[in-house]
Amino acid sequence: MWASKRAGAVPGSVFALMDAAKERARAAGRSVIDLSIGSSDQSPPEAALETLREATRDPATYRYPLFSDTRPLREAAAKYLHRRFGVTLEVETEVLPLIGAQEGLAHLLLAVTDPGDTLLLPDPCYPPYLGASAIAGLRVVTLPLRPERGFLPDLGAVPADVRPRALLLNYPNNPTSAVADAAFFQEAAAWCRSRGTLLIHDHPYAELTFGDYRAASALEAGLEGIVELHSLSKTHHMGGFRVGFAAGDREALAALARVKGAVDFHPYLGIQRAATVALGLPDEVGRAGAQVFQQRRDALVPALRALGWEVTLPQASMYVWARVPGLTDSVAYAVRAAETTGVAVSPGRAFGGQGEGFVRFALVQPPEVLEEAARRLAGVTVGEEAPLPRS
Ligand SMILES: Cc1ncc(COP(=O)(O)O)c(C=O)c1O
Repeated sequence: MWASKRAGAVPGSVFALMDAAKERARAAGRSVIDLSIGSSDQSPPEAALETLREATRDPATYRYPLFSDTRPLREAAAKYLHRRFGVTLEVETEVLPLIGAQEGLAHLLLAVTDPGDTLLLPDPCYPPYLGASAIAGLRVVTLPLRPERGFLPDLGAVPADVRPRALLLNYPNNPTSAVADAAFFQEAAAWCRSRGTLLIHDHPYAELTFGDYRAASALEAGLEGIVELHSLSKTHHMGGFRVGFAAGDREALAALARVKGAVDFHPYLGIQRAATVALGLPDEVGRAGAQVFQQRRDALVPALRALGWEVTLPQASMYVWARVPGLTDSVAYAVRAAETTGVAVSPGRAFGGQGEGFVRFALVQPPEVLEEAARRLAGVTVGEEAPLPRS
């Protein structure tokens, strides 16, 4: 009776089904290996933790943080983007702290669109994009991400009469772990400018890159008409702290600040201080965290290939995206795999129709546990899933 049409339009999540399946596995006495959720299992940098501990003892941090209080974090974010991507930002107008990239995106859509506007969204994508679009009342046009194009969208295939208000991209990508180079962002930015479209780039995996590979920033293509969302959740393992920042087009950021002003008061000052310290740490700190995921990738990918699964070796992110031969109902498969083996993965369809036939592994366990997960999955026959209702 009380749910609004807006709330009702937010799609349900298949992760509730997975949760129930894990519970049934536990009840049956199985040890659960949960690879279904992409929350880093590493600790934040000690310097950031110590800063936060000290901040909790400083009464000056107890009050509501105002915009002027966010200046140190804005400066640290601007310095980070300059150091890493050569992007120069005006600290007062072109960078804004967020309570995580997810919060930032939901409010950005409210800030830069009106109900009925068109949003171009990749399929597959991070599922909260769909909820945020629904809350903003947007008409979603999906852009398929296909393996043969390296999971990059074919913007040239978008009909000329589609002039979306915004295009949302995310590289390194969740769930496919695909990457995009600076030339791709140049092309996407030019395409957006030709259609009067705001380019939104969600960039939480900027530092989770492997070997010599280094991620590009969409802001290398200019600030006008582009907003990039950064997060300390993955790159600094601070997911529970809820902190990130938006950078780019000053008009879009002013609108975002206006909407956020009606909703929140910026992150707790102690968390801002911790994030400020984290962003200023030498790049090697981030590299060390990324190497942990790389070692896990190097354990899991060969183990899955030995099962006959098709897996591209990820250059970044904390996921492995695997096509399972013969798989037609990834949700039913994931539920059955969790119940019968205790191994929980994310069904590809949870990320969109183009994800069907795939499953996503989050690299959140040590290499030997990932190998054990692959061994257990070898015993699950594919193609015999009792179909579950499609959400
Ligand atoms: C693509 C993408 N964007 C945003 C987020 C959430 O970021 P934050 O913790 O900063 O809200 C995630 C988390 O998994 C993600 O994969």
